[in-house]
Amino acid sequence: MGAYADTYRRSLDDPEGFWLEAAQAIDWVREPARALDASDAPLYRWFPDGELNTAYNALDRHVERGRADQPALIWDSPVTGSQRTYTYAELRDEVARFAGVLTSLGVTRGDRVIIYLPMVPEAAIAMLGCARIGAVHSVVFGGFAPKELAARVEDAKPKVIVAASCGIEPTRVVEYKPIIDEALAATEHQPDRVVVLQRDAARAELRERDADWAELMAAASPVDPVPVAATDPLYILYTSGTTGKPKGVVRDTGGHAVALAWSMGAVYDIAPGDVWWTASDVGWVVGHSYIVYAPLLIGATTVLYEGKPVGTPDAGAFWRVIAEHRVKALFTAPTALRAVKRVDPEAKEIAHYDLSEFGTLFMAGERLDPETYHWAHDSLDVPVIDHWWQTETGWPIAANPRGLEPMPVKPGSATLPVPGWDVRILGQDGEDLPAGKEGAIAIRLPLPPGALPTLWGDDARYVEAYLSRYEGHYLTGDSGYRDEDGYLFVMGRTDDVINVAGHRLSTGSMEAVLAAHPAVAECAVIGVHDELKGQLPRGFVVLKAGADIPEDQLRQELVAAVRADIGPVAAFRDVSVVEALPKTRSGKILRKTMRGIADGRDEPVPSTIEDPTVLTALRTILRPE
Ligand code: COA
Ligand code: AMP
Repeated sequence: MGAYADTYRRSLDDPEGFWLEAAQAIDWVREPARALDASDAPLYRWFPDGELNTAYNALDRHVERGRADQPALIWDSPVTGSQRTYTYAELRDEVARFAGVLTSLGVTRGDRVIIYLPMVPEAAIAMLGCARIGAVHSVVFGGFAPKELAARVEDAKPKVIVAASCGIEPTRVVEYKPIIDEALAATEHQPDRVVVLQRDAARAELRERDADWAELMAAASPVDPVPVAATDPLYILYTSGTTGKPKGVVRDTGGHAVALAWSMGAVYDIAPGDVWWTASDVGWVVGHSYIVYAPLLIGATTVLYEGKPVGTPDAGAFWRVIAEHRVKALFTAPTALRAVKRVDPEAKEIAHYDLSEFGTLFMAGERLDPETYHWAHDSLDVPVIDHWWQTETGWPIAANPRGLEPMPVKPGSATLPVPGWDVRILGQDGEDLPAGKEGAIAIRLPLPPGALPTLWGDDARYVEAYLSRYEGHYLTGDSGYRDEDGYLFVMGRTDDVINVAGHRLSTGSMEAVLAAHPAVAECAVIGVHDELKGQLPRGFVVLKAGADIPEDQLRQELVAAVRADIGPVAAFRDVSVVEALPKTRSGKILRKTMRGIADGRDEPVPSTIEDPTVLTALRTILRPE
């Protein structure tokens, strides 16, 4: 057997031995004697008797072992015209001091801290500062509106919020403080303090509860890492579910450290000392895992980039960063490359930069369409590696294991299941489907270390949402198939989650906003194909009888409402007024049929449809040709 097949088999046949061995790459305060605790199945725990500290593993141990002067983090911010490099010693000191700030504010092990910071080094410092004292961070993406922030505050109940005065988008400065104030005006739960990092682009006015990051840092004393249980939560990351209420994905401490450290070598072929760049945002799982934790856990150098792929200042922004920092591998979303391709279709900019150190381009977050794959591959002349995973899983489920055994690339496929993940394609009745047949992608339990053990404070929702559809399996929410060689092709979500520019969003929460408008009787939001962003949300509303509002005005109000309630990141701009929505006789809206029409697929029309003529009217809107 090859290295991949051998490792994969061993990970499933002997998970205990496999993961205890992988755990050797982590420094434990108390070494785990056991890997898997199945005593509360289907809720599994990894390394139940282990104790460690993630920040110690990400920083101190590298300083102690000769990496003190190696760059740990390079901040490159074209939007502010700044760059800053932190060595491992410097980053450790900043993190220890920020941990001191949190301690001085009364934050202790198990307390939650919401982090609402843009792509600045302080985001990583705040995350690792929490980890250092065993506090549980929850990072909120800057593109969300106050209501979304409020929902997270209410669920996580943070003792402290750490924020910046603003984020910087190419077209505008986004002031964070008014967003926080608005969110906290609506929540029952109130944090004790809001720590604000003042940025020159827009300084915030501080009130009684607020404290200035720089002042607190100047007064703080560094604190040592606190040992925590491997099963302690490291963070909560909220993600869109089928309903409007976001799901608080919990990440544990020990399993996460072991899995991420293992993935850097086996999947990404990155070694200590290599320069690695993930162009995403710390607000997403990709940012948590592969901007902050994984590269630092292994002693690599991570690039933290504040800017867009294009226009800051030019179409060569990505290539400039790769050349300037001698990046060995880049991980980004296909939508980012499509944005580059749109302004520089012949990739002429690449010739201006020395990319000789650059070896691999990793892509995830959404389907990598073959056209983007070929463009990237032909332009860069390096392997372009698609891989598939989710917020819940924390690290790749299917990938081309570059460090273990590079596999031939098949455009459109995320390649093979990663060791640890027992991937199945299931039919309606839970039967394993043969090669070539599309079905629900599920993973046989137990999930490997690093995957979510539960949802924050809600074991029942975890079981209900993920483990109840197929007994003994985790439901990914994606459908797909495997080919004769076992390659996995992920085709898309089977639920109401959509993926807009690599951002995961819930159409259910957009529908809730539309439905709240006084003129709207009923509505549906579906994701439709978009050349640049992969998908875009598209709304349909039916007016209440007697509603007296011009259509243009209604459309504007609905677009503004989604932006105000969910945030600009929803990119909701398109809503049509229709006479009726296609429904079954029992009143269920046929969203799948609508999606099929929009994407040009001729989905079979369910025999239970109430009124087939409604579809004819929809077709003229969705496919006007
Ligand atoms: N804070 C505030 N607003 C934000 C924001 C943030 N962090 N991120 C995006 N927005 C806003 C944008 O300014 C835009 O606002 P507008 O409607 O006023 O123009 C809106 O949200 C939509 O943004 P987006 O869809 O992201 O488009 P964009 O043109 O700003 O950027 C990409 C396009 C491709 C560069 C960007 O979407 C991207 O990098 N996506 C990859 C996401 C990712 O990394 N996913 C994880 C998997 S790797
Ligand atoms: P998120 O939780 O934001 O990482 O989004 C996860 C979802 O994005 C998955 O369930 C998929 O629907 C989609 N996704 C992520 N990576 C890929 C990929 N490589 N190919 C296809 N879909 C992907």
